[in-house]
Amino acid sequence: MAVFNSIISRRVARISAVVLGIVFAGSIAAQSRDEQIAERLRPIGEVCVAGDPCAGGAAPAQTADASAEFSAEGTYNTNCAVCHNSGMAGAPKPDDEAAWATRLEKGMDAVVANAINGINAMPAKGMCMTCTDEQLAEVVAFMVGQ
Ligand code: HEC
Repeated sequence: MAVFNSIISRRVARISAVVLGIVFAGSIAAQSRDEQIAERLRPIGEVCVAGDPCAGGAAPAQTADASAEFSAEGTYNTNCAVCHNSGMAGAPKPDDEAAWATRLEKGMDAVVANAINGINAMPAKGMCMTCTDEQLAEVVAFMVGQ
């Protein structure tokens, strides 16, 4: 009985080795077939967009970088436009002269102070945490002048 058992188990081992071999060979064949298809489907000229590593050029400079040259308009577009272009939650739009005239009645300094400290739904510094007070004053002047 023990002899018979060991013959059986040796046979099972051999069969499973063969099965494993077939599965393994099959997966290699499938992989190389996929590669061949991918190779055939590859476009003749691949598109390289400026800034991609394949284009070889340097990536375009980030305009919102605080360490880069400050621009009131750029800062407005990056930090303030999301609320002020739409007038969200009563944010005065840059081109709304009447709204700014009313707000400026308390004086430009007070308006700038509100931009720095925040007022109601207006977050402190308009969420431009890297902006200095002077830069925020420039951005407010840009908004009022629009
Ligand atoms: C999350 C939305 C939001 C963002 C972002 C935002 N604002 Fe405002 N802002 C408001 C709202 C709302 C008000 C109106 C607040 C009120 O008077 O009740 C307002 C009001 C103002 C006012 C008028 C203050 C006054 O005294 O009347 C100024 C100036 C201003 N924002 C500047 C800025 C600047 C500059 C930025 C970007 C650096 C900015 N805001 C970003 C929502 C926003």
